[in-house]
Amino acid sequence: MSIRFDSERNIFMLETQKTRYAIQIVFDKFPVNLYYGPKTDEPVAEYDPSVYSFSPYYADTRLNYCPDLVRAEYVGFDSGDFRTSSLKVRNANGDSMVVLHYKGYRIFDGREEIPGLPYADADEDTQTLELQMLDPVTNLEVMMYYTIFPKEDVISRYVKLTNNSTSKLVIEKCMSLLHDFTSHNYDMISLYGQHAMERKYQRVPLHYGQQNVFSRRGASSHHYNPFIALCEQGKGPDEGIAVGFNFVYSGNFLDEVEVDQQGYTRVQIGLGQDNFSYLLDKGESFTSPEAVMTYSYEGISQMSRNFHAFTRNHILPEEVFETRPVVLNTWEACYFNINEDVLEKFAESAAASGIDMVVMDDGWFGERNNDTAGLGDWYENRNKFKNGLTPFVKRMKSHGIKFGIWIEPEMVNPNSELFRAHPEWCLQCKGRELMQSRSQLVLDMGNPKVIQYLKDVFDMTFSGVGIDYFKWDMNRHLCHVGSPILPPERQGEAGFRYMLGVYELFRWFKKKFPKAMIENCSGGGGRYDLGMMKYSTMIWTSDNTDPHDRIKIQYSSMLGYPAATMSCHVANHDNIIETPQALKYRYDVALGGPVGYEFHLPNASDKVKETVKKQVADYHEKYEDLILRGDYYTVFNPYECNYSAHYYANGDMSRIMLTFLQDNPEEPAIVTVPVARADVDAVYVDVETGVKYTGAQLREGVKVLTENTDMNSKIWLFEKV
Ligand code: GLA
Repeated sequence: MSIRFDSERNIFMLETQKTRYAIQIVFDKFPVNLYYGPKTDEPVAEYDPSVYSFSPYYADTRLNYCPDLVRAEYVGFDSGDFRTSSLKVRNANGDSMVVLHYKGYRIFDGREEIPGLPYADADEDTQTLELQMLDPVTNLEVMMYYTIFPKEDVISRYVKLTNNSTSKLVIEKCMSLLHDFTSHNYDMISLYGQHAMERKYQRVPLHYGQQNVFSRRGASSHHYNPFIALCEQGKGPDEGIAVGFNFVYSGNFLDEVEVDQQGYTRVQIGLGQDNFSYLLDKGESFTSPEAVMTYSYEGISQMSRNFHAFTRNHILPEEVFETRPVVLNTWEACYFNINEDVLEKFAESAAASGIDMVVMDDGWFGERNNDTAGLGDWYENRNKFKNGLTPFVKRMKSHGIKFGIWIEPEMVNPNSELFRAHPEWCLQCKGRELMQSRSQLVLDMGNPKVIQYLKDVFDMTFSGVGIDYFKWDMNRHLCHVGSPILPPERQGEAGFRYMLGVYELFRWFKKKFPKAMIENCSGGGGRYDLGMMKYSTMIWTSDNTDPHDRIKIQYSSMLGYPAATMSCHVANHDNIIETPQALKYRYDVALGGPVGYEFHLPNASDKVKETVKKQVADYHEKYEDLILRGDYYTVFNPYECNYSAHYYANGDMSRIMLTFLQDNPEEPAIVTVPVARADVDAVYVDVETGVKYTGAQLREGVKVLTENTDMNSKIWLFEKV
């Protein structure tokens, strides 16, 4: 498990636990990809040129190197490769071409930092290859970084550009990762959707041409997610090749997938280029965000487990609590109608049901009585909190609970003190009327004065108050993305600088309030990405808390991201939770991730309160460890049948939590749910019933009866005896 250089053959070999990635430098100038796949004893075959007409070449290489036909590592615009390119730079002479020549390399333990951006933490096995490239005409230096995370079979890529020329350059496109596959016999999995129905699963065969997913919304968005995968056609979840890709960034992105004349498939992951340019003065550098990929020859399921382990081990922040708090959130129960008395009732009922924390959602600050006012005025509304936050939070905590609070730092309502004082602090394009969404405007987070204001106001309002948890929201997308503080030639940087400001504020929060946890939210799961996961322990999965929709949203979210981040609440949006079966079904669905509650618990019957108490205790005692740290195995895909089934298991398969969820009503019938990875040499006991099963029996499956209701579910906990 390491990175090696074979100087005789000019081959770099990057190895993780189960995979190998090989690059050869050909003609002493051009890096080409030789291989990405399972680690075997076979030597890697060397570069073998392909020859087709209509593909340009240089005089010295002739047809032995046509950029248009090779498996590339990173491609300059207009460099003779007609497929999609990685780097486009407006040069001093007016052209945008980039031709990169290999100059040298460095292999080192650990990794380099990426200034201002989130990136994966190194561990003792992490190593990095730096390929040093130069455009000999413009003197643009491009450092290409390959970092291996061996235990999780993940390789990351990004580039650092330095302008060593004598004049300005403008970066017009800068991708982070390129991988060329030698076939297109793959299906592409991508996650699409909209607000309140994000990350829907789509698996379609690749076709000739481009098939991209992207965001131009200034956030990774509900509409597409940066995670994509290519998987072998016709294969089930546990078989065949599956290669996953993702991006450690929360703004505009572009996942480019293109099938070319040879039937090769090019995948590129990087910054969205539509609203991006970046001016590099002489001597200045620009570093792209990090992109990651993982290769599995045991199907999509293993690909997901690789990404889950990688995210848990290298992306997610350290836990600030020993166990994850079960929260009671006020939003769906109260909306903006909150005050001290209402909150105190929530605290009492939460404490009585063993719930760990009350999260006071929107409505506590400024003139925030509905969604048309107050954003930006981050101090408590004294009509609602007479003596201020400190004594109020103290009283809340005297019930024996923790306390969380909602914020939306990046936004401002036109009807706010902040906007009246500083209209120039919004993103805006000169002379254009501002556009609102949810009655709000977007702050120019690339403006250091805005960041300083936010730090000062949050410091003033929260320091010493004892907040244990911030729910950080972001409820609109960015348009008219211009910054009043940037000169005309830098306006294309506003969206990227916005993200740098957001990340800086996240880092400030984590330093200022080190004992507080952050739950991320963007109208639900609108920034469900690895960038946000670097700073937020959990992400509010969706504003849609209907259990049937959640079955699907949660299934597809798990393709790329671990359960530990997937905030799942038991809600009562249609007022049926008094039915025991409804409460149980919603809880069983919510057990896909860390569980919370979001309904009017104070007004609920004693029976409901008692049930909640039992559910919370079960969550902590029986399930939490498996959900947060266990491995995830899918059984039934709810996009392909009427059920969802999956299990979480610990590493030695000694504890297995199996979930079966029926979606729509159907005639009663017996369904067998196989636990294919149960330890065949072990005997298990069903903790609830005491019934024993051999591992072989579990592999065959346990039986469950379908019902003519839409609330049929079952959870089993099996432990080795
Ligand atoms: C967004 C969030 C909700 C809630 C509201 C408050 O829609 O997703 O959970 O916090 O904002 O305005």
